[in-house]
Amino acid sequence: MASTPAIFLATLVICCSLSSSHAEILFSSLKKSLEVTVKHRAGVLMAGEDTLEIDWFLNKTFPAGTDSAYKTIKLKLCYAPISQKDRAWRKTEDHIKKDKTCQFQVDSTPYKSSNNKFNWTIERDVPTGTFFVRAYILNGDGHEIGYGQNTDDKKVNNLFDIQAISGRHATLDICSVVFSAFAVVSLFGFFYMEKRNAKASK
Ligand SMILES: *[C@@H]1O[C@H](CO)[C@@H](O)[C@H](O)[C@H]1NC(C)=O
Ligand SMILES: *[C@@H]1O[C@H](CO)[C@@H](O)[C@H](O)[C@H]1NC(C)=O
Repeated sequence: MASTPAIFLATLVICCSLSSSHAEILFSSLKKSLEVTVKHRAGVLMAGEDTLEIDWFLNKTFPAGTDSAYKTIKLKLCYAPISQKDRAWRKTEDHIKKDKTCQFQVDSTPYKSSNNKFNWTIERDVPTGTFFVRAYILNGDGHEIGYGQNTDDKKVNNLFDIQAISGRHATLDICSVVFSAFAVVSLFGFFYMEKRNAKASK
């Protein structure tokens, strides 16, 4: 006869395996059915200032009806391998829920097969690094069923560099400290002169 704890455990195991098989979507199982291009100015891009011009469309080599279940496109900014090295908190995992490659949400929009454009000003919290853009395709249940990205499978081509705002911020902060100190000193200087003038005119 099975004891109560054994039944409880068995139920728990069955429930867990059911829910995880439902939630576990592997990146390697997604069809790469979108083409994604990103235009930007040459050189290192500045967070908080520069813009990415993102375009995406259905790859025409896929048969008609491929996209019948496509509902939503989620655009994300993702770390290139060089910016993931020795950083476990940016690690790529095949299990999408655990993947830390694409940490920056760019946009979420209803799916259309063509004429998709989005200009994204790189947000101020993006750190210095090398990046690419990925578009996830979601179905009506909000599950990933396809994707596209502006780089190849090995993530070598068309990457771009972003410089964080923090480094530049530090210089700005130093400048403002120097200016405030200067303002305080000149204010005291001004009062001193005023007082002396007042005394002199008595
Ligand atoms: C479209 O998909 C095919 C097959 O996966 C691929 O060979 C091709 O490079 C993709 N891109 C374009 C622009 O057709
Ligand atoms: C994005 O920016 C480019 C260049 O400034 C401009 O030509 C284009 O119209 C913009 N597109 C959208 C969708 O705002």
